[in-house]
Amino acid sequence: MKKIIVTGGIGYIGSHTYVDLLEHGFEVISIDNLCRSDKRIIDGIQKISGKEVRNYQIDLKNKKAVVDILQEHADAFGVIHFAAYKSVPESTLKPLMYYRNNMEGLYNILEGMQSAKIQNLIFSSSCSVYGFAKELPIRESTPLGEAQCPYARTKQQGEQVLMDVCKASALQVVLLRYFNPVGAHPSSEIGELSLDTPNNLVPFITQTAIGKREKLVVFGDDYPTRDGSCIRDYIHVCDIAHAHTLALQYLIREGSLKDNPEIFNLGTGTGMSVLEIIRAFERATGQKVNFSIGGRRPGDVIEAYADNHKAKEKLGWEIQYSLEDMMLSAWNWEKKLAQPA
Ligand code: WQD
Repeated sequence: MKKIIVTGGIGYIGSHTYVDLLEHGFEVISIDNLCRSDKRIIDGIQKISGKEVRNYQIDLKNKKAVVDILQEHADAFGVIHFAAYKSVPESTLKPLMYYRNNMEGLYNILEGMQSAKIQNLIFSSSCSVYGFAKELPIRESTPLGEAQCPYARTKQQGEQVLMDVCKASALQVVLLRYFNPVGAHPSSEIGELSLDTPNNLVPFITQTAIGKREKLVVFGDDYPTRDGSCIRDYIHVCDIAHAHTLALQYLIREGSLKDNPEIFNLGTGTGMSVLEIIRAFERATGQKVNFSIGGRRPGDVIEAYADNHKAKEKLGWEIQYSLEDMMLSAWNWEKKLAQPA
């Protein structure tokens, strides 16, 4: 059984990937300081998998602890590195906190891997590295644009660091660029725990529908799109999670990568507007969403959706979850969160 170290394994995408890896026969060790997650997610992973979660509750900025843990698990095949702050508005307000946390965490993981001689890494990247993409659908070869916030810049810089380290060492890297992950595990045992005020669309919709928020504001309906609102490629978190398992199997199969790092876009390939997502949620759940049209949000790109052929062809990745699954699972998770502990 191959052992995999997952940083941020108790986070949103990390926890769904943790479950998928267990279901595909991997042994998983998580490193997560729980600053953006909590015990409910650990309990949820255990309930779904029937297995005990193994998590080291340490901060990746604690270099000695990271090196010691990787040394202790030097028999691991590789690392999946999720742990990072990811709020776009928060990164604009606290850039130094974002650079310190996201970059130092990556440096410590890489140095720990070097000392433990662990040579395979999957890096959690983001479609936000494309900035205002120059072509649609967005391909892995689409030139990167100017990142629109410090969060996105930490992802662009993370990719740059990995490209340089790959050139100078035996490290093999797969970069997974997520489009807009949404939804929750069908069991409703795990899902996204938002910061106090979510900034992503779907958690804002579900919190408005359940009455935690009075109204959703649509940030602009005067864009040059089919209905005036911005278009994104929303993809179920479980499809994103399974792509990590497939990427791992790809690294195991390939041994050494011809293109290193190898990049994959993870999106459905279909763009949906904000207003279409609201309607899709109402159709899937029967819940009305109270919303009004507000001004544009600075930094928003008008349209972004993926060309996902490369992941389909080289990883054997197939989208399993529909838009309705995304909306329904997000709503079921919101209702689960509202239940008394
Ligand atoms: C989607 C659309 C908003 C909230 C970010 C990161 C990206 C990835 C996903 C990590 C936009 C509109 C939103 C609201 C709204 N994160 N919106 N009212 O900005 O596309 O992407 O999250 O990997 O890297 O950049 O996601 O959900 O914030 O916004 O109208 O209350 O919904 O304007 O058009 P975004 P989002």
